[in-house]
Amino acid sequence: MTDVQKVFDSARGRYVALARVNVEIKDGEFLCLLGPSGCGKSTLLNIMAGFEPVTAGRVECDGRPVTAAGQERVVAFQDAGAALFPWLTVEENIRFGLRVRKIPKTDWDDIVTRYLGMVDLDRHREKFPSELSGGMRQRLQIARALAVEPKILLMDEPFGALDAMTRRRMHAFLLEIWQRTGKTIVFVTHDIAEAITLADRVAMMSVGPGSVITRLIDIDIARPRAVTNPRFTELFNEIEHLLEPDLARSEAH
Ligand SMILES: Nc1ncnc2c1ncn2[C@@H]1O[C@H](COP(=O)(O)OP(=O)(O)O)[C@@H](O)[C@H]1O
Ligand SMILES: [Mg+2]
Repeated sequence: MTDVQKVFDSARGRYVALARVNVEIKDGEFLCLLGPSGCGKSTLLNIMAGFEPVTAGRVECDGRPVTAAGQERVVAFQDAGAALFPWLTVEENIRFGLRVRKIPKTDWDDIVTRYLGMVDLDRHREKFPSELSGGMRQRLQIARALAVEPKILLMDEPFGALDAMTRRRMHAFLLEIWQRTGKTIVFVTHDIAEAITLADRVAMMSVGPGSVITRLIDIDIARPRAVTNPRFTELFNEIEHLLEPDLARSEAH
């Protein structure tokens, strides 16, 4: 995306959420968007998804302008419970996505089996989302997203509501899927350690109004990454230090 600007006009006035965002996401990379709450991460992700029009600038995917939701991009949200259909079973939730994307009915069974297997939910096919744990619901949401074979998976703080242990398991699980499928992942988080655990590159955003991407940091640690690795601590401190002036400013608001 090039020089992306996003202004919200509402009854309360005009708010410049994004000033001039420039970033090029590489094929197959794991990019984390990192920044404090309210800095415009969700806005930026929704623009990438095609849910939100830009005020100025250009967004392209494989050379084509992004103006609406597209086959090649899917989104997973923090609240999997709200994203899933509560009146449909686990397998019906996956099938629903396939129907929407007009995938031939003859392929449905194979696809449902493959993706529920991938997220280890095949034994829970007949259950309803309300009968699943938070981590299972999130895995189902990811399976439903991947089942339509997108190129890009956009994730908005998907593990933010999970307990620390489930979250760690989900990190390992997501990295395994990413490595297995070769998808491009854009992952929004406000958690520095989560970004370092997952990302090839971390895009740091400044506090709004008028947020920009201030820096792109390569995470040069072999996977799996342990928080006990001295390089992990070094990067953590570096990123925290870079965020500090922004945080001080946001707290002063
Ligand atoms: N539809 C909207 N109308 C007006 N302001 C909005 C709208 N959506 C988001 N904003 C504002 O834009 C800023 C960025 O929001 P958001 O992208 O949700 O931040 P983040 O995801 O980083 O917490 C916030 O100040 C928010 O209040
Ligand atoms: Mg958000």
